[in-house]
Amino acid sequence: MKKRNYFVYLLSVILFVQISGCQQPNQKKTDMEQKVDSLLALMTIEEKIGQMTLFTSDWDVTGPTMRLGYKEDIKNGKVGAIFNAFGVKYLRELQQLALEDNRLQIPLMFGYDVIHGYKTIFPLPLAQAASWDLKLIEASEHIAAVEASAEGLHWTFAPMIDIARDPRWGRICEGAGEDTYLGSLIAAARVRGFQGKDLADNNTVVACAKHYAAYGAALAGRDYNTVDISDRTLREIYLPPFKAALDEGVGTFMTSFNELDGVPASGSKYLLRDILKGDWGFQGFVVTDYTSIEEMVDHGIVADNKEAGELALNAGVDMDMQSAIFNDYTLTSFNEGKVKIEDIDDAVRRILSIKYKLGLFDDPFKYCDEERENTLVMHPDHLNFAREFAAKSIVLLKNEGEILPLSKNTKNIALIGPLADSKTDMIGSWSAAGDYMKSTTVLEGMKAKLPGTNIFYAKGCDVLGTDKSGFSEALAVAGKSDVIVLAIGESRDLSGEATSRTSINIPGVQEELFAELNKLGKPIVVVLMNGRPLDLTWLNEQAPAILETWFLGTKAGDAIADVLFGDYNPSGKLTVTFPRNLGQVPIFYNTKNTGRPITEDKWTSKYLDVENTPLFPFGYGLSYSSFQYSDIKLSQNTISPSEILTVSVDVKNTGKYAGEEVVQLYLRDLVGSVTRPVKELKGFEKIFLEPGQTKTVKFEIGADKLKFLDINMKMVAEPGDFEVFVGTNSRDVNSARFSLVE
Ligand code: BGC
Repeated sequence: MKKRNYFVYLLSVILFVQISGCQQPNQKKTDMEQKVDSLLALMTIEEKIGQMTLFTSDWDVTGPTMRLGYKEDIKNGKVGAIFNAFGVKYLRELQQLALEDNRLQIPLMFGYDVIHGYKTIFPLPLAQAASWDLKLIEASEHIAAVEASAEGLHWTFAPMIDIARDPRWGRICEGAGEDTYLGSLIAAARVRGFQGKDLADNNTVVACAKHYAAYGAALAGRDYNTVDISDRTLREIYLPPFKAALDEGVGTFMTSFNELDGVPASGSKYLLRDILKGDWGFQGFVVTDYTSIEEMVDHGIVADNKEAGELALNAGVDMDMQSAIFNDYTLTSFNEGKVKIEDIDDAVRRILSIKYKLGLFDDPFKYCDEERENTLVMHPDHLNFAREFAAKSIVLLKNEGEILPLSKNTKNIALIGPLADSKTDMIGSWSAAGDYMKSTTVLEGMKAKLPGTNIFYAKGCDVLGTDKSGFSEALAVAGKSDVIVLAIGESRDLSGEATSRTSINIPGVQEELFAELNKLGKPIVVVLMNGRPLDLTWLNEQAPAILETWFLGTKAGDAIADVLFGDYNPSGKLTVTFPRNLGQVPIFYNTKNTGRPITEDKWTSKYLDVENTPLFPFGYGLSYSSFQYSDIKLSQNTISPSEILTVSVDVKNTGKYAGEEVVQLYLRDLVGSVTRPVKELKGFEKIFLEPGQTKTVKFEIGADKLKFLDINMKMVAEPGDFEVFVGTNSRDVNSARFSLVE
């Protein structure tokens, strides 16, 4: 460039910068920014700290402490939000308390764990994921939001989007399973369902992406345990669902209890300020998990509560759940110069912005409408939906000799087992305001479906314990029946938070009960209930038919009856691997090949004492029908980064029932600058086929699907060879190869 030209260029750059810089202060603030800024300007530091505090009511505890005197705190402006209370009447009372004598009239926000339905309870999230139906998942969260908002709530502590690969961990039931791709799509669907188009609508609630981050990687599956994973694994496996929730506009994030690389998440500047608020530009607010600021003392990263509060605030926490540490110490920390007013203001600005978006400044009682509460909660449409969703979450694990579906003309059926008529267990853990007395059991579901059939019920035994005194009654009813349905598994309280197990066997004497019944030589269908993958090796050898029904919610019994008697043809697929035994754990489909992949040879990566495959692989699930896959057709064998490759397969229903099939697409990058998994889910489609019908399923693959974090931690699609797999689960696939060229 000539000197003079360069001068003109420089001048224009300077002018541009000045002009655009000048525009900044004149830019019109949004109404929200004006409102929030004007409030901030009026607030004392004590009032600001109050907004940064969240307490549980005394209705319920979901952690080790109960906050007595929370009403005084509300009155004194020491709290910005309350959780674990619901219902228009009570929440109106609390809101009134907050606004009485409150010079700035800042309303409270009410939160709750609406995890799989509010009062109409849907299947556990892990079960929902087995539907592979994003539309249904989104719709269920919409219904949950309608019901929760009708009872005065503004905020749900969901979705829980922790990837989990360890069935010992009781909270595996709260998430979408082991896969990051599917987990990210489900995370986004849940956020859409809860938040709708506008948080100000009175039928939406603000969502909370939790638990940030890597909580599901707790060592040995022990809840709250240390997490020690590489930054690559963090970013590749555990973070993407959070990014997906953020991209969908999630309003809040919750920190996790665990430490990561030596720093508890609630004190992690890396996670909060660098990644979440920095790289990702998150504008909502970050709440801690229950007392997790205080727990940083026990973690051994701070000497006392005051230091814990400083670490959390400096790291980027905006709201303290239940530790009361911001309340008790932040003013002192500020006076001592240990925390900055800018960070406090930033936190309060984020919190007030969410309250503004919810419309609470327009009308703090906006969600306190008795009429909505009386008409919408447990609306018959919601219950019908719950039944359909429950049926679609069931996974058929085995159906030897096509025992299922059972004939509706069967005269005498024995229904046995501790979970056959247990209302308490149907709705599973984290069942919000759900009333288990309103759930239907398997016995009720079967009786309602088949009023003319003799259904003989016996409990047989408990879920836990060694008492076999009920066996004789069970054998007696089985003796007079044509078929036995046995409902066994885990009780509701064996999964959820703080429910890690060192055994994933079916507990108690339930398998012994099966063995006794099996001696009768009658067909037995096992209806399993559980919140985690169990070791089903023995049962799978013995039982001709196994239905995985998880905990299906309010309409569990009806949905199970629908599937047992063929009114719904099961289509669920596992989103978590079922191991052959606990020794194989952690076991997941998207593993690495190693330098010594398994062969017959001794010196390869395997166990000596078990078949080195899962019992049921990721993506597995049968149907009453059968589906035949054609070979894979590729539109081309080579693509450039700007091209799209089409993968197509014909899928034919070769059975006698109409049914749905989840067609799954996996990819493998054969050579990378870092090693790549042997398979990664990159697409799926759920199709419905009449008997004899064939459909062509097409997937598009562009460079985006081929990208991964390369050796420099950049998202890159590296040229080279790829293998593409399509099939009915992650094991049973056809494959083809193509190349990406520069
Ligand atoms: C759980 C969170 C939950 C919170 C509030 C904690 O113990 O880890 O998932 O949202 O309690 O109930």
